[in-house]
Amino acid sequence: MKTVGRTILVVGGTSGIGLGLALRLRDAGNTVIVGGRRVDLLASIVAEHEIEAVPFDVSDPVSIAAGRDAVLDRHPNLDVVVTMAGIMLPENLLDPGFLATAESTIETNLLGTIRTIAAFLPHLIQRKEATIMTVSSGLAFVPLPMTPTYNATKAAIHSFSESLRVQLRETSVGVVEIVPPGVRTSLLGQDEAGTGMPLDEFLDEVMELLAVPDVTEILVSDVQYLRFAEANGVYPEALGMLSGD
Ligand SMILES: NC(=O)c1ccc[n+]([C@@H]2O[C@H](COP(=O)([O-])OP(=O)(O)OC[C@H]3O[C@@H](n4cnc5c(N)ncnc54)[C@H](OP(=O)(O)O)[C@@H]3O)[C@@H](O)[C@H]2O)c1
Repeated sequence: MKTVGRTILVVGGTSGIGLGLALRLRDAGNTVIVGGRRVDLLASIVAEHEIEAVPFDVSDPVSIAAGRDAVLDRHPNLDVVVTMAGIMLPENLLDPGFLATAESTIETNLLGTIRTIAAFLPHLIQRKEATIMTVSSGLAFVPLPMTPTYNATKAAIHSFSESLRVQLRETSVGVVEIVPPGVRTSLLGQDEAGTGMPLDEFLDEVMELLAVPDVTEILVSDVQYLRFAEANGVYPEALGMLSGD
């Protein structure tokens, strides 16, 4: 995809991969706006990085509509939307309390992604060239049993992205799915645990892969094992590894 001279909104850009990607894209010569719930972080991003920021809560349709209107009002040239917002929480399925976690995970990760796409698609389709970037996970392809609903939402985002790409193939809107492996962010405390790919290394590979013409999935080297586990006949071994066997 074209990675220079675009106007890009990263919904879920206040920390971690979203903020890192926003800064890389800005440095590459794009206009970047970030969205998220934490208004303190939005304010400090504006102050520190000279990036615009707009409040967005993808679990609230009213907030999405207000955020969209604010962004399009200031940036009628918006041509890329990244649906980065996500939460990841452990669930013990033997504890009935897991249901509340499951529901909010679906609301943020899956419904939030679909709502954001629905809000921006009528605008993007009017642009000469536009991109929707979704964010799934290696765990869409082999689940981490301690986070069942998280994995399920990411598998759903992969599936939704595939259908979206087909339905949009006669339009100006392309669909790129970012499939991160474990990356050191505060999503599930990987930064403190020191597990997963360092964020900068991940972003180096992402920026290279994004520039590939007609790219559909962003698959850095560390995610290939999970992404193709079933095709390569190593699914039981991969599931065993993620189960702590
Ligand atoms: N790190 C990994 O290992 C990994 C692996 C695979 C996939 N991913 C995916 O990458 C994405 C970014 O995660 P991360 O690792 O960078 O973790 P992170 O630092 O916790 O980032 C999550 C982002 O989502 C936003 N968010 C959460 N709920 C939201 C809501 N209701 N409305 C709007 N924004 C919301 C957060 O902003 P606010 O809190 O300010 O709202 C934050 O900007 C997620 O979709 C995650 O599933 C991460």
